[in-house]
Amino acid sequence: MKKRVLSGIRATGRLHLGNYLGAVKGMLELQDDQEYETLYMVADLHTLTTPYSVEELRQNRREVLIDYLAAGIDPEKSVLFLQADVCEHLELAYYLSSVATIARMQHLPTFKDKVKQYPEHNTMALLNYPVLMAADILVYQAELVPVGIDQEPHLEVARQLARKFNQMYDTNFPEPQRFATKGEYVPSLSGEGKMSKSVPGSYISLTDDLQTLRKRVMSAPTDSGQGAAVPQDGPVANLFKLVELVQGVERRREYEAQYTSTGVRYGDIKAELAEAIFESLRPFQEKRAEIIADPGYVDQVITDGAVKARKIAAATLADVRQKLGLG
Ligand code: TYM
Repeated sequence: MKKRVLSGIRATGRLHLGNYLGAVKGMLELQDDQEYETLYMVADLHTLTTPYSVEELRQNRREVLIDYLAAGIDPEKSVLFLQADVCEHLELAYYLSSVATIARMQHLPTFKDKVKQYPEHNTMALLNYPVLMAADILVYQAELVPVGIDQEPHLEVARQLARKFNQMYDTNFPEPQRFATKGEYVPSLSGEGKMSKSVPGSYISLTDDLQTLRKRVMSAPTDSGQGAAVPQDGPVANLFKLVELVQGVERRREYEAQYTSTGVRYGDIKAELAEAIFESLRPFQEKRAEIIADPGYVDQVITDGAVKARKIAAATLADVRQKLGLG
């Protein structure tokens, strides 16, 4: 039996470099490994946990699916689907919520952040976010989850719920582990925190053209370019981390050596970095243009993915209902 892999990306907009380096790269690696059966979804249901526009969601769930395809997720190798097409996720989330405590969910850093960001939207759906995510994973009995490091607290919840459920109902859910990549934490361009869709000025979109990319990279804050020691956090550390992730660790080391001797010229570093990012995104952007020219193909991928995912999810739910005394 192949081990199952499940991952998802919320339908909140086009993918950024953090999503790509932290999650999609890991998804691609596992897709090409014969040991695994890979399932990747657009987490459109999770988009409802914070305020959203109906029109934008309708568009974004498709855009994210197209981004997956352009990045190299291959429907011949992976099951690619929209989360809302498989209502078993919601059903299992409800069952799992019966063993999830409110106190545990309220203490999650991701929950606290979102409540701070949207104080008027402290909803049940938001509180239930990690439970639905656990259901996404457990409904396929997935053992490995390629996601960035920010998702680790959610995976811890998934493991706890699996354990508790197994103990109480004699189910056999595996405890899912994170599959990490070198880019598990891509820093923000603005110098603080991580690259994030919800922070303007923090991210590089995979669909940015060279001009936009240059503008975004050039606006990253820096310092005088010289010092006794290279900063370990803050804007300069973030810039060097991006250099490392896109251009390699050698280039980073060269800049660091210059920083503590002759000094660096950020204008040159940034121009080169923007160029390197653009080159690395070129195949993605070319493939994306081909895919959007064929909407029928995208429709077919969505339909086929839903059928394949539902088949696995339905079998899990039949067993769970039985064990809960509902079947
Ligand atoms: P989302 O949409 O916030 O992020 C999608 C993926 O991108 C990763 N990521 C990053 N990685 C490195 N550096 C960054 N700056 C960065 N920003 C984002 C995230 O870690 C994530 O892997 N809860 C998930 C969606 C989800 C899911 C699931 C994932 C729903 N159900 C089941 C796995 C399994 C999320 O917030 O994604």
